[in-house]
Amino acid sequence: MTNLRSGSPEEVESLMRHLPEFSTQTSASNIEKRLNEKPGQIMICESNLKPIGFLVAYLEDPSVFYNWIMGVLPGHRKSGFASVMMNQFEKTAVHYNCELVKVKTMNKYRSMLSLLIARGYNITAYEEAKITFERNVQR
Ligand SMILES: CC(C)(COP(=O)(O)OP(=O)(O)OC[C@H]1O[C@@H](n2cnc3c(N)ncnc32)[C@H](O)[C@@H]1OP(=O)(O)O)[C@@H](O)C(=O)NCCC(=O)NCCS
Repeated sequence: MTNLRSGSPEEVESLMRHLPEFSTQTSASNIEKRLNEKPGQIMICESNLKPIGFLVAYLEDPSVFYNWIMGVLPGHRKSGFASVMMNQFEKTAVHYNCELVKVKTMNKYRSMLSLLIARGYNITAYEEAKITFERNVQR
């Protein structure tokens, strides 16, 4: 059974510790600070009542909803959990009346690149190692 609920910065911090890809960890206080400044959401994905994924997003400006960090625990990947969270992220963008959804990722995050291409996102910018993907909000 898959369930999405809102969560806390501490839950995201503890899930992130189990993702080998993230060499620098984002602390709970860092997440809290970012979300205090801008409206947003902390989404936790549960499988059979166990938290297995997260997505943190906020309004970058009134027309852009930005997916800042997301991840799924290694043992639960390729089962569609990231897609479920992306669906909800994009629905929230509609709720906020945004025009664009935006994600930044890196060449080394191959699954994230595949996921974004498969969902119709376009590359709109590069800055050092980061690649920006955007898509118009679909109503
Ligand atoms: C990126 C990540 C969140 C994807 O999570 P996931 O739950 O495995 O993704 P899903 O199962 O929902 O995959 C959705 C789609 O993405 C694509 N995809 C995901 N992983 C893929 C892979 N390894 N190879 C090819 N395509 C892949 C596919 O299009 C897939 O669609 P499909 O179901 O038709 O195959 C996960 O791999 C992860 O946590 N990675 C480490 C952290 C990370 O990179 N976060 C993003 C940083 S910006």
